[in-house]
Amino acid sequence: MANEGTSPKIPTIQLSHGGVSMPVLGLGMAPNPPVPDEVTKNAVIDAVEVGYRHFDTATIYFTEKALGEGITQVLNCGMVKSREELFITSKLWVSDAHPNLVVPALKTTLKNMKLEYLDLYLIHWAVSAKPGPPVYPIKQEDFLPFDLKGVWTAMEECQRLGLAKAIGVSNFTQKKLQQLLTIATIPPAVNQVEVNPTWQQKELINFCKSKHILVTAYSPLGGPLGGHNGVMESNILKEIAKAKGKTVAQVALRWGYEQGIAVVVKSFNKDRMKQNLGIFDWKLTSDEHEKIRSIPQGRTCDGTDYTSPLGPVCTIEELWDGEI
Ligand SMILES: NC(=O)c1ccc[n+]([C@@H]2O[C@H](COP(=O)([O-])OP(=O)(O)OC[C@H]3O[C@@H](n4cnc5c(N)ncnc54)[C@H](OP(=O)(O)O)[C@@H]3O)[C@@H](O)[C@H]2O)c1
Repeated sequence: MANEGTSPKIPTIQLSHGGVSMPVLGLGMAPNPPVPDEVTKNAVIDAVEVGYRHFDTATIYFTEKALGEGITQVLNCGMVKSREELFITSKLWVSDAHPNLVVPALKTTLKNMKLEYLDLYLIHWAVSAKPGPPVYPIKQEDFLPFDLKGVWTAMEECQRLGLAKAIGVSNFTQKKLQQLLTIATIPPAVNQVEVNPTWQQKELINFCKSKHILVTAYSPLGGPLGGHNGVMESNILKEIAKAKGKTVAQVALRWGYEQGIAVVVKSFNKDRMKQNLGIFDWKLTSDEHEKIRSIPQGRTCDGTDYTSPLGPVCTIEELWDGEI
């Protein structure tokens, strides 16, 4: 069962504003469609066995509890020696994105996972909805104005209380990050956004680098359809993969890693988990990067579900501050 010597070592990257190191490749914990908790828990154990140490969940994925059970098991049976060897992220859901609900929401997350702290806690979307149990999609009439300053101050409290080693955001535009940086006492360590060869986000990545905010790529393979989307179906990526004797998924993940960002990829299949780890002992050439740059661009996750004709965010142009 031991991982030592049998699986590739995943490089880590130091977060600027939290003092913790994040493995640059993590396992996404958003199965779509949902799966039984037992499947999720076994995926966590398989993942640890093949070498993953970084897990990315969120309250709205409803996998916190099963991830927590997997963690308890890998610790109890000695597959990992201590909690410190793992890097665990979760995210604040929009119904808890209110100043007085942030710390209680994180405490509930920790209770669900039977953990004392998270390595990283993120604001999932810069959106608020009527307080209540986590629900997706959000009802049109339930959206409320988002109090960035109040919610971020409460996120800072989470870090000060030791409930999260680092704090950050997700789905933030450059404009929202600018606003946040003017009010933050603790700047965000991470901005988790969609990044893949069909939505390359060059400008946002450069902006984040200039502010020492690490970008984490979500949907690096183009999302849960895996195999039926722009990334996996790209002829350019297929050509590169064939020439290098790699898979399209490996080329897409290696491309993400070579952007100097972290990547979270979801697979609950042990062979594909292993395959996705096989990206650290080879490189893409500048010619291959050039070809990937020519791939037509568009978001997979366009954010429509976070807008409502009733406001406060009516259109995706507003949601993304025109950065679309
Ligand atoms: N912050 C946010 O708003 C946000 C939004 C979306 C996602 N995320 C996070 O990012 C994670 C990853 O994104 P994602 O789940 O949207 O999509 P993804 O990782 O791009 O793709 C996952 C899909 O690809 C398949 N797959 C994985 N490895 C493969 C391989 N080597 N070959 C072929 N197919 C493969 C998976 O199926 P199998 O499991 O069957 O292998 C699954 O269907 C999520 O799980 C979540 O943690 C965050």
